[in-house]
Amino acid sequence: MTIIDGKQTSLDIRDEIKKEIDDLREGTGRVPGLAVVQVGENPASRVYVNSKVRTCEAVGMHSEKYLLAKDVSQDELVELIEKLNRDEKINGILVQLPLPKHIDEELITETISSEKDVDGFKAENLGRILMGEEDCFKSCTPYGIIELLKRYNVELSGADAVVIGRSNIVGKPLAALLINESATVTVCHSRTKELAEKVKQADIVIAAVGIKGFVTADMVKEGAVVIDVGINRGEDGKLYGDVEFDGVSKKAKAITPVPGGVGPMTIAMLMKNTLKSFKKYQN
Ligand code: GUN
Repeated sequence: MTIIDGKQTSLDIRDEIKKEIDDLREGTGRVPGLAVVQVGENPASRVYVNSKVRTCEAVGMHSEKYLLAKDVSQDELVELIEKLNRDEKINGILVQLPLPKHIDEELITETISSEKDVDGFKAENLGRILMGEEDCFKSCTPYGIIELLKRYNVELSGADAVVIGRSNIVGKPLAALLINESATVTVCHSRTKELAEKVKQADIVIAAVGIKGFVTADMVKEGAVVIDVGINRGEDGKLYGDVEFDGVSKKAKAITPVPGGVGPMTIAMLMKNTLKSFKKYQN
C-alpha cells in the first residue's frame, strides 16, 4: 500500500517553480506576482491566505495581501479587483471564498480578468476545461489531484473513476479533467442512488463531500486508488478527511492522507497557474 505524499510532491513542484522564477528574474529582472484578497476574519480563510502568501515567498514570487473589513461594500471590492486587473506587477488575483452574504461571489469571480483567474473559477475557464483545452487555468484542487495521480504513475486512461461531490470548484472540473485523461467517470452526490455500489466499482475513488469519514472500507474495491479532498475538523480539534483512513487504507493500493495529501497540492498548483499567467501574458 502506498501513501500518496502530497506534501513532498508539492515541495518538489515548488522547487521546480522556484528554479523557473530564478531564471526569469535573471533573464528579465521580473517575477510573477499574486494578489490575495481576504474579506473579513474567517479563521479558516486566514490560515489559507497566509499559507498562500508564504508559499509565494518560498518560490520567489511577488505577493500582495489585501485584508478588507467584513462590511466592505461590493462596489469597493469590485474597484480593488479592477485596479489589480490593470496592475502589471500582478499576474494572478485570488479572492478567498466564502465571501460575506452581502457580496455576490459570482459577480466578484467574474470581475477578475480571465488572464489573471489563477483559481480557475470563472465560467470561461471552466468551459475551457470542459472543451479539453490544455492551455487554460485549471482549478487548483482538481489540477493538483491529476498531477498527484500522474506523478504516482496511476493509469488514468480507461480507468473507472468515481468522483463523490459535484461542486463547481472540485467535483465538476475534476470530472472534466479525468474525462480529458480518458478515464470513465461517474459523478456521485447527495441524490445518488446506491452510491456505495457505484463507489465499489471504481479503480479510482475521489471523495470531495465534506463529511468526515464518509467513505468506509466496505465501499471500496480491493486495490483501488483513493484520493481524499475532505478537510473536516473533528470534535477533538484535529483534521479529518472524507475517507475513513484506517479501514480504507487496508484495502486500497494507494491513498492520500489528511492532512498532507491534496491540500498542499492545491497551493502548489496556484503557484503553477500564476507562473503560467506571467509566461503567457507578460510582455
Ligand atoms: N475557498 C476554499 N478553497 C478555496 C480556493 O481554492 N480558492 C479560493 N479563492 N477560495 C477558496
